[in-house]
Amino acid sequence: MKLLIDDAHIDLIKKICDYYPVDGVTTNPSILAKSGRQPFEVLKEIRSFIGKDTELHVQVVAKNAEGMVEDAHRIVKELGANTYVKVPSVPEGFKAMKILVKGNINITATAIYTPMQAFLAAKCGASYAAPYVNRIDNMGFNGIQVTKQIHDIFKNNNLKTEVLAASFKNSQQVLELCEYGIGASTIAPDIIEGLVKNQAITSAVDDFIKDFEALTGEGKTMS
Ligand code: E4P
Repeated sequence: MKLLIDDAHIDLIKKICDYYPVDGVTTNPSILAKSGRQPFEVLKEIRSFIGKDTELHVQVVAKNAEGMVEDAHRIVKELGANTYVKVPSVPEGFKAMKILVKGNINITATAIYTPMQAFLAAKCGASYAAPYVNRIDNMGFNGIQVTKQIHDIFKNNNLKTEVLAASFKNSQQVLELCEYGIGASTIAPDIIEGLVKNQAITSAVDDFIKDFEALTGEGKTMS
């Protein structure tokens, strides 16, 4: 399972990339709005930090297919290779996806709440389909179950599209999808850090250091 950061805050992205194995960064218009800065200024800064070989997912905002296609071209022109254009999985979005895929633009179908949205996006040639795990839960359905179902639909129909699970609330949701072998998850920085935030782990490591220092002296290491 690929691991992506769902955030546009450059300091947080730098911190998470420094400590953890990260495969990319995803954003959406709401995440960009939180930065309070101009979208392409922030996005170019992220691209320049993560480099040209790392995935960057950026969403179109136009309401119709023609506008989405124009948005997509601008996004790719500004941000270069390994940019995935997030297109909402609505009728205008499917129309845009078909056009963009013909032009070799990488698509991440987004705003997915149902398996059939994901199926249609995959048939349009999207590289990823992004179900919103926690938002599905909040509607009274089971986000993990829907995400697994989408993964199975892709495999059973020989569709190359991978799941890029999004909208997480906790580590358990990430674990369940990781165990199932889905393609990718995009996770907010605090939840990535939460994957290993555990008193037992910290205290085990502290005890090893304490024992070693008792033998060799305070602050001593192997080097
Ligand atoms: C990803 O495609 C979504 O934009 C994002 O993960 C939604 O997350 P949220 O439900 O926490 O806003």
